Amino acid sequence: MNTIECNQKCTKCSHWKYKDQAPRLSPKKVVDAILSIPSAQELCIVGGEPLLFKEEVYSILEGISHTKIRTIIITNGVPMDEEFIARVSKFNIHIVVSIDTMDREFWRFVRGTNSYDKVFKNLEHASSVLTPAELSIQSVLSAETQPHMEEVAQYAKSKNIYHSIQDYIAEGFEGSWTVLPNKVAFGPRTEQQCYAADRNLSIVQNGNVYTCFQQNWIDGCKEPIGNLNSLSMPEILASYYTALVSQKMRSCNLPCKVLKCNTQN
Ligand SMILES: C[S@@+](CC[C@H](N)C(=O)[O-])C[C@H]1O[C@@H](n2cnc3c(N)ncnc32)[C@H](O)[C@@H]1O
Ligand code: SF4
Ligand code: SF4
Repeated sequence: MNTIECNQKCTKCSHWKYKDQAPRLSPKKVVDAILSIPSAQELCIVGGEPLLFKEEVYSILEGISHTKIRTIIITNGVPMDEEFIARVSKFNIHIVVSIDTMDREFWRFVRGTNSYDKVFKNLEHASSVLTPAELSIQSVLSAETQPHMEEVAQYAKSKNIYHSIQDYIAEGFEGSWTVLPNKVAFGPRTEQQCYAADRNLSIVQNGNVYTCFQQNWIDGCKEPIGNLNSLSMPEILASYYTALVSQKMRSCNLPCKVLKCNTQN
């Protein structure tokens, strides 16, 4: 999570109300941390709006380009211009663009801005350059967006773009939407561990490392497992506290279990 800052004013998420609180962690430190994990398979770059820092994204992609790691970039689509697509398309990437409606008026409610035309122009270009394996659309499902899902799905289908749906959750995002009682996206069953356990690591903008983004919601796991400004990733992973957090994750069953970064697909 390379920033909390954002150029949209969504009603589902309050990240845009915050400013980063620390100097930026250098892309080199991020790359070193990733390269120190031989089993790493996927890197997800997310925010806030991660493309506010495109140069750093390019540096990270370059730094891990000799590995098999695939990088997923989740964006609101506003800064996803032609130059960005040209520069990242030579790497092993998958871009996820967040689209919750095809309706221009409702878009203003969703995004708090008039970015509809820009996002669809960028998305049209991206879909003309990238392969279906490199681009998808993700929607957030709530009572407000449910009537809009079919139209988004139809649009994605017409462009041969995979469409995923993530349930709206209130926790952590401080949004003002309404959780649906009968969600469509199911996380692992209650008796199963959260898929993030022993698989995910989250590096945030100030260098703090957590297991999952929501680690600090787990009882007794409020503190990060370390900070990359003072420790290397192997040192962080070797600590007793990291082992304790991992153990607690295996029986953790919080609402964030359904977020796509914590599920198998
Ligand atoms: C926090 S955003 C950051 C990346 C980028 N700014 C974007 O909007 O795609 C990451 C993903 O979380 C989704 N999201 C935002 N608020 C959410 C909420 N309250 N519940 C579930 N997903 C949410 C977004 O739609 C996006 O697909
Ligand atoms: S969902 Fe993405 S675009 Fe919307 S405010 Fe949050 S970080 Fe920004
Ligand atoms: S349920 Fe949430 S807090 Fe618990 S391990 Fe999974 S992602 Fe982390």
